[in-house]
Amino acid sequence: MYNQKVIDIFANPKNVGEIENADGVGTVGNPSCGDIMKIYLKIENDVIVDAKFKTFGCAAAIASSSIATEMIKGMKVEDALKIKNADVVKELEGLPPQKIHCSVLAEEAITAAIQDYKSKQK
Ligand code: FES
Repeated sequence: MYNQKVIDIFANPKNVGEIENADGVGTVGNPSCGDIMKIYLKIENDVIVDAKFKTFGCAAAIASSSIATEMIKGMKVEDALKIKNADVVKELEGLPPQKIHCSVLAEEAITAAIQDYKSKQK
């Protein structure tokens, strides 16, 4: 059901783990499947210099977390906020229709982590 890219990333995900003293942490969940994604960001001068994740979820959620954390590294916070789940799916070269919602977790977790960062700035 998954394409080779998704299978490869799931088998060998990048950026797994936590960032100690992260500047922003976002945790989101999908109540229908019960999966949970947590993204940690290290931010310097409004640029995401590091990103890690912990995801308790399906293969699509793990692959989405891995690729999303790769995508946002080096990005300005404001640009990372513009990432949509469709961008994550495109980068994964597609997900099965019933797994699109898993990529939404990545979009939401990034947004939540950045909001956490912004709230700490104030
Ligand atoms: Fe829940 Fe994929 S089935 S995130």
